Amino acid sequence: MDHLTFLSRRLSVPSGQLAAPGPSRDQLQQMLAAAMRAPDHGRLAPWRVLAIEGEARHALGEFLAQRALELNPQAAQATLDKDRRRFSHAPLVLAVVARLQQPSRIPEIEQILSTGCVCFTLLQAAQALGFGGQWLTGWAAYDPAVAAHLGLAGNERIVGFIHVGSIREPASERPRPAVEAHFSVWQG
Ligand SMILES: Cc1cc2nc3c(=O)[nH]c(=O)nc-3n(C[C@H](O)[C@H](O)[C@H](O)COP(=O)(O)O)c2cc1C
Repeated sequence: MDHLTFLSRRLSVPSGQLAAPGPSRDQLQQMLAAAMRAPDHGRLAPWRVLAIEGEARHALGEFLAQRALELNPQAAQATLDKDRRRFSHAPLVLAVVARLQQPSRIPEIEQILSTGCVCFTLLQAAQALGFGGQWLTGWAAYDPAVAAHLGLAGNERIVGFIHVGSIREPASERPRPAVEAHFSVWQG
């Protein structure tokens, strides 16, 4: 398949539809190598990727459920169970972290966008290798206690959790935005 056709067919597979096996170490290395080619103003490489796999996924889910209860002692059991399972579907979750250089001549938004490109490349690389993937954030990506639990420093932000695995159930296509609604030519 040529690259443009690949891009025009790209789609996410919801994390709940992913299963083991995940990428091998070699395949993960290939995905990461592709991601290191993300566009990067100032050559800051303002990112790092943290793999969450195996038992660590369940342990993180347990932490999330406890944290959710701490934040909202009235939380419904179903909500807590959803948090507990959040990281347990896909065999591999890549936490993509922006390491913000502050101060820098490169605006913070550009460092975050560059890290977003890492996320998108990882998704595409997973799909190119025959896996499914989904970029998720949810409250956990923005919670300081979760960040500390994952070992993030004060200048680090989670830009995405990229869930990757074999496709247990294919994703259904969704209507895509019409180009005409999102494109115009500046008339001067
Ligand atoms: C920054 C970012 C965060 C996202 N977070 C979530 C999320 O927390 N929950 C969710 O259901 N989808 C989230 N999505 C959307 C999915 O990644 C995905 O785009 C969606 O399932 C539609 O699939 P598609 O990529 O095939 O259009 C997020 C997307 C982006 C770019």
